[in-house]
Amino acid sequence: MSNPDELLRIENIRKTFPGVVALDSVDFDLRRGEVHVLLGENGAGKSTLIKMLSGAYRPDSGTLYAEGREVRIQSAQDAERLGIATIYQEFNLVPDLTVAENIFLGRQPRRFGLIDRRKMEADAEELLRRVGVQVSPRARVRDLGIARLQMVEIAKALSLDARVLIMDEPTAVLTSEEVEKLFAIVRQLRADGVGIIFITHHLEEIAALGDRVTVLRDGRSVEQVPASTPEDELVRLMVGRSIDQQYPREHPEQGEPLLTVRGLTQNGVFQDVAFEVRAGEIVGLAGLVGAGRTEVARAVFGADPYDRGSVEVLGRELPRHDVNAAMAAGLGLVPEDRKGQGLVLDASVQENLGLVTLRSASRGGLVDLKGQRTAAARIAEQLGVRMAGLGQHVRTLSGGNQQKVVIGKWLLADTKVLILDEPTRGIDVGAKVEIYQLMNELTASGHAVLMISSDLPEVLGMSDRVLVMAQGRLAGELTGDAATQDAVMALAVTTPPSNDPAVKEVEAPRGH
Ligand SMILES: Nc1ncnc2c1ncn2[C@@H]1O[C@H](COP(=O)(O)OP(=O)(O)OP(=O)(O)O)[C@@H](O)[C@H]1O
Ligand SMILES: [Mg+2]
Repeated sequence: MSNPDELLRIENIRKTFPGVVALDSVDFDLRRGEVHVLLGENGAGKSTLIKMLSGAYRPDSGTLYAEGREVRIQSAQDAERLGIATIYQEFNLVPDLTVAENIFLGRQPRRFGLIDRRKMEADAEELLRRVGVQVSPRARVRDLGIARLQMVEIAKALSLDARVLIMDEPTAVLTSEEVEKLFAIVRQLRADGVGIIFITHHLEEIAALGDRVTVLRDGRSVEQVPASTPEDELVRLMVGRSIDQQYPREHPEQGEPLLTVRGLTQNGVFQDVAFEVRAGEIVGLAGLVGAGRTEVARAVFGADPYDRGSVEVLGRELPRHDVNAAMAAGLGLVPEDRKGQGLVLDASVQENLGLVTLRSASRGGLVDLKGQRTAAARIAEQLGVRMAGLGQHVRTLSGGNQQKVVIGKWLLADTKVLILDEPTRGIDVGAKVEIYQLMNELTASGHAVLMISSDLPEVLGMSDRVLVMAQGRLAGELTGDAATQDAVMALAVTTPPSNDPAVKEVEAPRGH
């Protein structure tokens, strides 16, 4: 008997890739006017499942029903015909086209056989207003930051007027203000009767937005529960055990300053930034999006130039804008945009893990492949990278597992000071704790970590000291009991004394 509100039903779906069973007997259903959350660890099969509905993959076996009728979804066109729109975890936009062209790709409005640019741009503008993002329809997609890309993807999906909207980790790169805008849109769509499949690793979003939750574990649908289920219960269902301590920071003894930054200035971006990071220390760098944290990290690492100031590692000044010198001195940077800057997607897990160490591992000009393999295997095991083997191409790893590889390559490189920019974005709750443990190990062995994060509980839970940036300047420093969410926020919204605000865009970091 089929439910009249049922939009989609999946029965006993199986999907394998060479060496991997991604999905093994999964059941799932979606109703009109609900937000159905898909929950599971990195590599559990969430993205694979939705790709079966969007026509990107075909199941090996199992049955799909749309409004009670059995269907085959063999292509993106099939999915579109059934009213299914998808926002992928890894963006699907064409960098060289404009925002409007991307939104209407393949279905541009025409007039007398020609593309009606004016109408296309006006329609795009209206959609962008609906999602509440300030971006010109004529902007090139390649020039947009990652949060804006996500908002353009959402605008594009809205333009399809879908009955089913699939969102794969849409909030991973958004600030709390953008998340609120997105939730308002999703709630409106739900009220209009759209069925929404929502994937997230932020558990607090589940009760806030969801109706039902399907938990996937190792490619199986293990449970279906209401979204009001307590978080610790959701964690237990998802990882198969409970997590007692989300932020297991140990405080090792501190040693000499490893990294010293003085008067660092990039005109119009950040001014007079000065701090040090000592051996054994985790220093958190908090602030609003646009406060200049990523820019400072990139300048310290030599990825971008700066106008004034200095960067020293162990008392030795680094040349500016020289990544090789920074790496040779023992600096490492895990960037916020893993796909663009952190990985070679068509190389293997082992090759990616070895990217930084390659030079130090070569003996007399020869690369020590065996040593590299052993080291790569150890770190992949420690981080719990879910893969068919070290030879698997990084492109085919799940999103969270790609992030683990980016972190792993720097852990392997024996970096003295590791700068982490949003290290746990897209990482499941269990794997987060593993990454925190590795940060503990790094600092216990006399190394240091500088961590940028918009996840305030994470910054407060793992840092020994928190630096807060506001509009391109260090607004203050907090330690011990003084480091609270309120104190960080109060500093983050301070206006600097001078009138050269670095960035106008001011948004609140994510709280829990
Ligand atoms: N094209 C592919 N080739 C080989 N293996 C693949 C391919 N796509 C996915 N896999 C594997 O299938 C498994 C499930 O991956 P999937 O991307 O569905 O996980 P996920 O639940 O979305 O994880 P995350 O939270 O990290 O995004 C993983 O082991 C992944 O490596
Ligand atoms: Mg995924």
